[in-house]
Amino acid sequence: MKAVKIIYGSCGGNTELVCLKVADLIQDAGYKVSLLNAKIQVPDVFKGEEALILASPTYGVGELETFMASLLKAAGDMTFVGRLCAVIALGDERYHPDYYMESMRILAHWLKQRGATFATGPLMVGKHPLSYLETAVPAWTDRFLQAL
Ligand SMILES: Cc1cc2nc3c(=O)[nH]c(=O)nc-3n(C[C@H](O)[C@H](O)[C@H](O)COP(=O)(O)O)c2cc1C
Repeated sequence: MKAVKIIYGSCGGNTELVCLKVADLIQDAGYKVSLLNAKIQVPDVFKGEEALILASPTYGVGELETFMASLLKAAGDMTFVGRLCAVIALGDERYHPDYYMESMRILAHWLKQRGATFATGPLMVGKHPLSYLETAVPAWTDRFLQAL
């Protein structure tokens, strides 16, 4: 069975909510899925054959959520050559418009530099995610699954 690993950082719960929905949809489609909070992980969590989704909101002034930032830093120059990956990014333009959803750029750049293959473009969720859960989230998950 094909498998998907989702690693996310979430301070206020929005990213977690989106990732829970994505995980449910992936599981409903018949795939094995693991959903892991960056807060309780070590860099070895990135290892494996599964398709990999990294998810983070933007905090500070255009930065990743703290635990996700630490996890990526701890992973050093680990490579993802040939690994199917995707990015989920959350943000809100009311904070720092110049850094709107900067987590998308940071995560995508980090994966690209390490040789990952993108299954699809990023899922970008602005403001509160509730309105996306039955629309953009399932549509994005379908596109992601088509690439597996
Ligand atoms: C202190 C603070 C700083 C933020 N900075 C940014 C930012 O620079 N760019 C952005 O797009 N969103 C920014 N946001 C919005 C969050 O990314 C957004 O609320 C997100 O949904 C939070 O996700 P979470 O609930 O999973 O932690 C900021 C939010 C807070 C509270």
